[in-house]
Amino acid sequence: MCGIIGYIGNKHPKDVLLSGLKKLEYRGYDSSGIALINKDNTQIIKSVGKISLLEDKIDKEKLIDSFVGIAHTRWATHGEANEINAHPHRIGKITLVHNGIIENADSIRNKLVKEGVVFNSETDTEVIAALINKYYSGDMEEAINKTIKDLKGSYALSIICDSEPDKLYAVRCESPLLLGIGDNEYFVTSDIGAILNYTKKYVLLGKDEVVSLSKSGYKITKDGEVINREVFVSDLKNEDNDLFGYEHYMIKEIMEEPTLVNNLIKKYANNLDKLPDISKYKHIHIVGCGSAYYVGLVGKNFFESDGIDVQIDVASEYRYRNIKYSKNTLVILISQSGETADTIAAMRMANEKEIDTLAIVNVDGSTIARESTYKVLIEAGREVAVATTKAYILQVLILSLLSYKTHPDKYYLDDLMRLPQQLKILLDKTGFHKKMADKVYKKKDVYFIGRLIDYAICLEGSLKLKEISYIHSEAYQAGELKHGTISLINKGTVVFGIVTDDDIRDKTLSNLEEVIARGAVPIYIGNRDEKYKNKIIVPKIHKKLQPLLVVPTLQLIAYYVAYKRGCNIDKPRNLAKSVTVE
Ligand code: F6R
Repeated sequence: MCGIIGYIGNKHPKDVLLSGLKKLEYRGYDSSGIALINKDNTQIIKSVGKISLLEDKIDKEKLIDSFVGIAHTRWATHGEANEINAHPHRIGKITLVHNGIIENADSIRNKLVKEGVVFNSETDTEVIAALINKYYSGDMEEAINKTIKDLKGSYALSIICDSEPDKLYAVRCESPLLLGIGDNEYFVTSDIGAILNYTKKYVLLGKDEVVSLSKSGYKITKDGEVINREVFVSDLKNEDNDLFGYEHYMIKEIMEEPTLVNNLIKKYANNLDKLPDISKYKHIHIVGCGSAYYVGLVGKNFFESDGIDVQIDVASEYRYRNIKYSKNTLVILISQSGETADTIAAMRMANEKEIDTLAIVNVDGSTIARESTYKVLIEAGREVAVATTKAYILQVLILSLLSYKTHPDKYYLDDLMRLPQQLKILLDKTGFHKKMADKVYKKKDVYFIGRLIDYAICLEGSLKLKEISYIHSEAYQAGELKHGTISLINKGTVVFGIVTDDDIRDKTLSNLEEVIARGAVPIYIGNRDEKYKNKIIVPKIHKKLQPLLVVPTLQLIAYYVAYKRGCNIDKPRNLAKSVTVE
């Protein structure tokens, strides 16, 4: 989704801004732009499409001398992806970039139009520039404070003003924004990865805190009062952004799974006390979006088999449900980014009702990591490909460990210790995965069927395939097909049968026979050899670890299908890495 980088320092901002924008590319975007300022001019350059197109445009222009600049990648929300709607936006003396959504933009715009303001774009962002411009009478901090009082919604803003060409301003509410501290240079960004080339030191900005930056320092205020905030040092490595010879981030990230799984096992297997104690809760709610929700669905199967009462929902529904919490409830929030707007809202709803929340997140310092009662970091490093792979696996591993901690079982630990090696061997058998991808890549429709935990696995396999290959794909509880969907199965339809759960193996296999009888081409993925021609046999392992061998197999098949179709694997159309709007 949208990304922000701002710079003030001794360098010309162009290279810093472009380097930052390139690091933000992974989040998904459809247009981009930069603004530079000096005492005579504010220069804005924007482009639709890739950052490389913006770079070409910048190279053709004569750039002004400057040491202050702002830049943005836009993922369209209000108005189509074109140059006019791309950021930065400028009204009067004010030029700014914005992440988030202003919910009362229409009413503000109508009022300002009556006052004579002329708007150029369809965006909600332009009204913010117009408001700051209206309130500005020589004091930017005051103008920003007045403006944010009028705004409803979410915003992270980086702002420059014609009358103060040696200053950079920023403020945030709901949307993330941090301040990077270098040697005699400062950065503002929505994503620490954008500035790791220059500094690892950063300060987190609280809600509606206004930061004013000059070359010689920064000041943070809230309602005019100066605030001191702790300086953190990020432990993210810049090389997390390198491909290390892989063609795509997605395959690189899948191949990292055995090492990362091994790291978490080493950290927790013999130190379970480092994980939160969830045994005191009688009810567990699990909430997430997309793949993170499917992680939760796997977890639901673990906890239910432990006899715990579990509810699960996608965050965009959960946040609007009328939930009557019982006292001993724990809400588990699953999120890679820790910045997904709906998951944040779900967390805050529980926090407000004084219900304990546990975040299973990747990005430390993210909103969900900061505001939840407890957190467990999955330590995946940076996940760049839009489609999550390694984070999914590590989140399932943490849920599995939490379940084991509350319900120890003598077979689990031995299998856990074998897991990284087995996963590595499985991933190395790329020939098998490519062979299955051959069966799929020309198809228009694909189905995945399974029951219980195998159904949860099907959902993730199906999502991975459709989001990166654009093949229509659906996952069904195997027993449900005959209640309608089986009418779509005909000669040549590919149906993946996921069969790992011994308790319902025969049921799923007979559902697979039903689709074969209607002409389907079955692909069997299971932990026992069966008669099918197209199959991948994964090692049999403890039930609470089995998804960690099956899902990577499906991730690889999805990858090779998308590869054969020539898709933009790391940045599928219309998708964003971090969904920071509702
Ligand atoms: C799919 C995918 C998304 C995310 C979802 C939640 O491959 O990556 O479905 O899982 O947008 O994102 P996080 O985990 O950052 O909250």
